[in-house]
Amino acid sequence: MRVLFLGDIVGQPGRKYAAEVLRELLPQVQPDLVIANAENATKGRGLTFNSADELYDAGIEILTMGNHTWDQRQIFDFIDDDERIVRPANYPAGTPGRGYTICKVGQAEVLIVNVMGRTFLSQLDCPFDTVDRILAEHSEIRHVIVDMHAEVTSEKLGMGWAFAGRVSAVLGTHTHVPTADAMILPGGTAYLTDVGMVGPRDGILGMKRDQVLRRMRTQLPTKFEVADGPRQFCAAVLELDDVTGRATSIEQIFCHESLG
Ligand SMILES: [Fe+2]
Repeated sequence: MRVLFLGDIVGQPGRKYAAEVLRELLPQVQPDLVIANAENATKGRGLTFNSADELYDAGIEILTMGNHTWDQRQIFDFIDDDERIVRPANYPAGTPGRGYTICKVGQAEVLIVNVMGRTFLSQLDCPFDTVDRILAEHSEIRHVIVDMHAEVTSEKLGMGWAFAGRVSAVLGTHTHVPTADAMILPGGTAYLTDVGMVGPRDGILGMKRDQVLRRMRTQLPTKFEVADGPRQFCAAVLELDDVTGRATSIEQIFCHESLG
């Protein structure tokens, strides 16, 4: 089974570039499942119905989320009904939406889990205990992909090692900066600290850099808007054994438009 996972898609530039690159990439890679982190897909914060639809039209099948899940209020109108959207599983019980989803790929079931780290983010339930609990509830599923949406590298690496040999992949999202540490952990778990971003390359994490710099220099409240200019595409391709779910390879994809 081949899985293509796209890093955080940022705003309209990210959505458009994801669609453009996937038009070329999907026939080449021929993935069995396409997943993307979409918590920044609408204006850099949150996800509207139309943005989700645009990503599905581009060929993405599952959308994972993160700390910006609730930033577009419209999400409350459709997150309960759309089984393709997965928000962090370690929110308190009763939170709208779902923390994991199960989809059928050929003969196999694939469990996709989203959890959020707690360092420099909200103090949610323990992400490690949360994944333990979900795995225990679905011990029959061999193909498990965890999107660890977290700020710090150590917490993501911790998630990788905590579940090495127990899940097919632990992929980090949130920082928008791809790391160069793709590897297969013992027991066949593909690991990458951060997949990176699909969005404007010359902003700061996809947002207009003059606005971000103003906030950094003055600490005053500043509106952030999605940046313009050349766009980049970051993703990872995983090969999973069809029977055991163990990862046999992980390869990073990075491309961007010309710098003008
Ligand atoms: Fe995030």
